[in-house]
Amino acid sequence: MSKSKGWKIVCINCGKETETELPDSKCKHCGDLLEISISAKVGRRALFEGRGPGIWRFGAALPFFSGTIPISLGEGGTPLVRLEHVGLGLDLDNLYAKNDGQNPTGSFKDRGIAVAVTRAKSLGARTLVCASTGNTAASLAAYGAKAGIKAVVVVPKSGVASGKLGQAFAYGARVFGVEGTFDDALRRVLDLVKGDEGFYLMNSLNPFRIEGQKVAAFEIYEQLGRVPDYLVLPVGNAGNISAIWKGFKELRANGITRSVPKMVGVQADGAAPFAKAFVSRRKIEALKEPHTVASAIKIGNPVSWKKAMRAIEESGGTVLTVSDHEIMKARTELGAREGLLVEAASAAPFAALRKLKLSKSAKVVCVATGNGLKDLADHKSEQAIETFDSGVSIVNTLGFA
Ligand code: F0G
Repeated sequence: MSKSKGWKIVCINCGKETETELPDSKCKHCGDLLEISISAKVGRRALFEGRGPGIWRFGAALPFFSGTIPISLGEGGTPLVRLEHVGLGLDLDNLYAKNDGQNPTGSFKDRGIAVAVTRAKSLGARTLVCASTGNTAASLAAYGAKAGIKAVVVVPKSGVASGKLGQAFAYGARVFGVEGTFDDALRRVLDLVKGDEGFYLMNSLNPFRIEGQKVAAFEIYEQLGRVPDYLVLPVGNAGNISAIWKGFKELRANGITRSVPKMVGVQADGAAPFAKAFVSRRKIEALKEPHTVASAIKIGNPVSWKKAMRAIEESGGTVLTVSDHEIMKARTELGAREGLLVEAASAAPFAALRKLKLSKSAKVVCVATGNGLKDLADHKSEQAIETFDSGVSIVNTLGFA
């Protein structure tokens, strides 16, 4: 390993190091997933007293690319919000949302895309490419624009939330549609990057994405003043659960904490290949036609399932599924009772809480992964504008005349 870099790329299976990622971000020896290993121990002071905005405050624990200034739109540093009303209904005294919908493009993706785009810039990449259910596309488009690198996003032709597509166009990306699902889009993108060196892969197979996303764990620890008992989040391609787990594991490995949270992954009933694999403790079996109202996690073949399975097993967590009806009910409740508007996929962890059988005092953090403005136009509201009649009639309807 070159000492000056302070990090290396290693395979999660055979443990061998690669000097630089291959186009498809897989190990050149055995074809498994790669991860970044940070060589130095990072103590409490180095980690929490760093300077810089958002995720870059935690630069001591991030890969450093000599000569390249971080490409940033102000990602990370999102609020941890206490949900006392929803918590009361669930008999939970300490329920929180990590509101990653407040990132620059409205989802947690910005944390990882910022680091991976910075890596791409340091390598002199010419075109960035990803497959996406919408949020990665929006994020990549924005950070590509900021970095001055072309962005190509490949999405399923139908089903992507209108707000996310609108963002990708607004940030100037080229948007391509494929028949089929996210899994079909990713397959096509992997073929593309393997066949043409001009493209740099920005899906969460790219281990630099995971580095940016792991920072959520550092922030949650700092904001809560301790490690939560449970960390609950939606699982699609299974990158984010792997990333946040890596963050907590690094806190433990660096002697900053002794405990780690139980990681709980949540999938939609109709798109739950990972939940099925977890129950049977088997390899993932791809689901051909995933379906759910939560289009962000409508994924049949999660590529990072192996990392995610380790996260859940090592942490003593679990995987749950929820129905579309439960997802939409949770979303409505978060909006109307907490003032927290999340997109459908991000409501899934909240919908799963009843099934977890938690003690009243448990400290529970759900990750609100995406902003509800993104898919608001795609879900019909039963409410309509009322006719403004007179002040008297409004007072009468509200019932406090
Ligand atoms: N929540 C939201 C809002 C997402 O957009 C995604 C994934 C997830 C959760 C699941 O995260 O894939 O790391 O397990 N969206 C990807 C995309 C697939 O293309 O935007 P994961």
